[in-house]
Amino acid sequence: MEARAIRAVSRNRSAVGVVVAYMVTLGLIGSGNIGSTLARLAVDSGLDVVLSNSRGPETLRDLVAELGPRARAATAAEAAAAGDWVVVTIPVKAYQQVPREPLAGKTVLDTGNYYPQRDGNIPELDKKETTDSGLLQGYLGGDVHVVKVFNNIYFKHLGLLPRPAGAADRSALPIAGDDAGAKAQARELLDVLGFDTVDAGPLAEGRRFQPDTPAYGLPYASAADFMNEPPQPAPVTAIEAALAAAGN
Ligand SMILES: NC(=O)c1ccc[n+]([C@@H]2O[C@H](COP(=O)([O-])OP(=O)(O)OC[C@H]3O[C@@H](n4cnc5c(N)ncnc54)[C@H](OP(=O)(O)O)[C@@H]3O)[C@@H](O)[C@H]2O)c1
Repeated sequence: MEARAIRAVSRNRSAVGVVVAYMVTLGLIGSGNIGSTLARLAVDSGLDVVLSNSRGPETLRDLVAELGPRARAATAAEAAAAGDWVVVTIPVKAYQQVPREPLAGKTVLDTGNYYPQRDGNIPELDKKETTDSGLLQGYLGGDVHVVKVFNNIYFKHLGLLPRPAGAADRSALPIAGDDAGAKAQARELLDVLGFDTVDAGPLAEGRRFQPDTPAYGLPYASAADFMNEPPQPAPVTAIEAALAAAGN
């Protein structure tokens, strides 16, 4: 196992401090632009990955072959069951198709961004009664801990910006969530994949790094047209400033 993978093998401690599990597998519900990028980063970091999509494992054969022996494809329920961390990275409109039962007790990392033109109008989001990740959290229930992350960075930049811990040009990603333990697990995954973390607060604060905020896309490029720009490292201070600029 490579050096970065060893850091991935973390210990989950129970309330009495007993080591109960090791975290080595990333489950992916959704294997498109973001899901496949995360799968590559995870495999490069020595993690195992279980990929899934809406059309079935056989449609992921080429991607699995490219990723190598640490990767396999499965159904969404199997990916949810297998993952120590599970990433939900699908169009927001499909959130009610995420398998609930196998996620019980787990940390779910949600990359979703709500686009009415793609997702259709979702009244709770249009009225700002909750956020897209809040909607997923409400659907999954209180024993699943949703952390919003990976949603504020263009997938090509996500794939090119990882750096080792301590590197001067390491980038940070914001996270938001209501459970401190889940956020610690998210921070650990980010560290393994090559990113620092900025905690933006409770899940509702994910609105600070949704599309059309200063923390969305812009910090990782040198111009506003960020999708057509090369990646630019964004350290913790840059992300903190962008989150602060989002206001209240
Ligand atoms: N693209 C970016 O740079 C970027 C950046 C940050 C955040 N995001 C957000 O992250 C999410 C994913 O974005 P993306 O660009 O990766 O999307 P994408 O390329 O369109 O991929 C979506 C993936 O979700 C899968 N999927 C759809 N419905 C599903 C279901 N019910 N169960 C399991 N898998 C399902 C799709 O599978 P099939 O192909 O089989 O349908 C596909 O693998 C979106 O909410 C997006 O707004 C995207």
